[in-house]
Amino acid sequence: MITLPENSSNQTVTKLPDGTPKFKWLQTIRIVLQPIDTLEQTEQRYGDIFTSDLGFFPPQVVISNPQAIQELFMADAQLFDSGSGNYLIQPLVGANSLILLDGDRHLQQRKLLMPSFHGERMRAYGETIRNITKQVTGKWSIGKQFTARPSMQDISLQVILQTVFGLKEGERYQQIQQVLTEMLDTFNTPISAVFLFFKSLQRDFGAWSPWGKFLRRRQQLDELLYQEIRERRHQPETRGEDILSLLMSARDEQGQPMTDEELRDELMTMLFAGHETTAIALSWALYWIHYVPEVREKLIQELNSLDIAHADPTAITQLPYLNAVCSETLRITPVAFFAFPRVLKAPMKFMGYDLPKGMMISPCVYLTHHRPDIYPEPKRFKPERFLERQFSPYEFLPFGGGNRRCLGMAFALFEMKLVLATILSQYSLELLDQVPLKAVRRGIVFAPPGGVRLMVKEKH
Ligand code: HEM
Repeated sequence: MITLPENSSNQTVTKLPDGTPKFKWLQTIRIVLQPIDTLEQTEQRYGDIFTSDLGFFPPQVVISNPQAIQELFMADAQLFDSGSGNYLIQPLVGANSLILLDGDRHLQQRKLLMPSFHGERMRAYGETIRNITKQVTGKWSIGKQFTARPSMQDISLQVILQTVFGLKEGERYQQIQQVLTEMLDTFNTPISAVFLFFKSLQRDFGAWSPWGKFLRRRQQLDELLYQEIRERRHQPETRGEDILSLLMSARDEQGQPMTDEELRDELMTMLFAGHETTAIALSWALYWIHYVPEVREKLIQELNSLDIAHADPTAITQLPYLNAVCSETLRITPVAFFAFPRVLKAPMKFMGYDLPKGMMISPCVYLTHHRPDIYPEPKRFKPERFLERQFSPYEFLPFGGGNRRCLGMAFALFEMKLVLATILSQYSLELLDQVPLKAVRRGIVFAPPGGVRLMVKEKH
């Protein structure tokens, strides 16, 4: 039997298997430190739809069953809140972030931001992405090794600052890059990620304490973002086609513009959601491409069919095997193990079960992507499966789905393909970690341990 959240009705869930462990704190530590083993063992025991109540979250139903995911993503979005279930990341993105909004405000803000990540606007970023990739990889030299994750993060952060924020080279640009990277590094180990999960640990014991360090970096970053906002307010001629300019000219129904604080929170959201995720996906892609030599060969062959340095970015992003490699990377090692939780606003019948108000439904991306009935030999990296059949949005969901589907999905895939094509057409790389890698937690996402070390070799 599960514990019901406060002010829920008296309904109880009697039929769903209850995956709540005896020692909740132990399970919480395990899910932070050994997420894959813990998820797989729980699924083996309780199946692809079960309840879990670990105490630090409201009770939830964890689903990795495509029918259940379809029922959730197709249901009327008014039945759920999602923003309120994302409170863990409020210290990073602020209360006005799209990720934390619900209802009409969420819908309005999503509509406003969406065009910047799609269509012509996005395709115009192709050249910038290629140039940034060349500039960052230009620091590599033959015979030297490098770690993929920080290099990819350097690329994806510059991409987001230049294309989405319209920031150009300069002191503030450099400072934002440095401070944001340091701030996210506060949660770079599974242990330090615990600070995000437990409010009681979020205490400022001075500049050397982990939370104190985070707060000081956040303060520095806020000052830089507010400086940028103020400057653009006072110099309208500096406004362009970028997101910040778009947000500054937006008016709500009462004709009011967004406040500085609202602007800051949305900027933080794009920075936070938009660059580390893509960098991790790129690092995994480099790992898998070089871990399975046949994949690399096939991919290089496909890339050789185009002059990558000069080809139209759209032609590159339409290459079928490159697309399959990116999809298989996001399937086998998804960056987010869960889509956002959906919190029930009223009691609801879901998959035939009566669920109470306040219950959360959490689609588990990782477990769904590792189902052998959908993906035979799920632990094998096999891009061909994406050429042989099409998977439904309830079987393949690295970017979530429904009304909260990742706003940056098209942008992230566009960037991943251009960066990979640019790197692989210029460099020959050798994987130094020729071993199976198991994802580890970095904040709330999952990255390759050690960041994937590669060696630059002479290109033949
Ligand atoms: C490989 C890279 C990425 C992955 C794997 C990823 C994954 C996700 C996932 C799983 C969600 C939750 C969706 C749901 O619950 O249905 C999400 C939401 C979101 N993502 Fe991404 N993301 C990536 C890149 C980006 C980029 C590049 C941006 C923007 C620049 C971005 C902005 C967002 C935003 C704003 C949301 C919240 C949407 C909402 O609440 O309506 N993401 N992402």
